[in-house]
Amino acid sequence: MTPPAAVRRPPLEEWLAGRRGETEAALLRVLPAAGEPLSDAMRYSVLAGGKRLRPILALTLYDVCGGASPVPSEVAEAAAALELVHTYSLIHDDLPCMDDDTLRRGRPTCHVVHGEAMALLAGDALQTLGFELLATRPSGKEAAPRRAEAVALLARAIGVSGMAGGQALDLAAQGAVGRGAGAAERLREIHEKKTGRLLQASAELGAVLAGAPPVRRSDVARYGVLLGLLFQIADDLLDVTASADALGKTAGKDAAQEKLTYPALFGLEGARAERDRALAAALEAAEAVEGGPGILSELARYAAHRDR
Ligand code: IPE
Ligand code: IPE
Ligand code: MG
Ligand code: MG
Ligand code: MG
Repeated sequence: MTPPAAVRRPPLEEWLAGRRGETEAALLRVLPAAGEPLSDAMRYSVLAGGKRLRPILALTLYDVCGGASPVPSEVAEAAAALELVHTYSLIHDDLPCMDDDTLRRGRPTCHVVHGEAMALLAGDALQTLGFELLATRPSGKEAAPRRAEAVALLARAIGVSGMAGGQALDLAAQGAVGRGAGAAERLREIHEKKTGRLLQASAELGAVLAGAPPVRRSDVARYGVLLGLLFQIADDLLDVTASADALGKTAGKDAAQEKLTYPALFGLEGARAERDRALAAALEAAEAVEGGPGILSELARYAAHRDR
């Protein structure tokens, strides 16, 4: 059987810029209007920039799995839900009761500017707005099963066995307790849950919205979680090696707070070796996704070697 002709896509930077543009436009359509304390706090954090990786990943998999081109605006809005939920996780991650951070996306954190109560509520409201989008887009009766699947997918990814659970483990592993027996396994679990599961759900959402069959979805899910682990190892490394200016967030925080991270456990060189191993695994998983290798491999290399 002749393999299908390779899909032509522009170079990575151009591809990212295109998907980012679709995401920014969708975010502006779905966010509440400015002028009230809560909506202002939501807009403050969402519209502060950010790489938009999660919606980009969803839109990429939507394309890889044969979704419509150009991307329908309702599909872009469903993908934007991921950015709302991600921003909620960042606002809460920065709160004094969690990582107690004062800089995010190049600005003072949400609670510093809008107060703790409004930051907490902005996170809550971004999360529910995200679910509302997934429950309503794309509209139409025939898309109802896909919407239900999307809601379940995201709920599983960010709850007790996903992001929130990972964040709880991250806090529990701070200090000496993080370095004892089984630390490497615990660290991998933390990273897979707090970051990997949302990236996995983002990749899967693209496949679901494109109507991909279950077998392809499981390849996509495997790629997504490995990409997420890789992304968080790179985040740990950047905390050690990059400046606050480059990152738009405080550098050197993990060591100061005795976080269980790859550099803390393996040293800088050891953490780089772990990152390279995670990259190799993500590249192998990219190869397994039908129609995916080119762009999905490029995304994995970007996640590993990004500078912010
Ligand atoms: C930061 O995420 C938190 C992690 C899960 C590592 P990003 O690095 O994607 O942050 P933004 O969205 O670009 O600000
Ligand atoms: C946060 O991990 C992951 C989330 C689920 C928000 P970090 O605490 O390392 O993220 P940064 O470095 O503050 O962005
Ligand atoms: Mg944290
Ligand atoms: Mg943090
Ligand atoms: Mg970090």
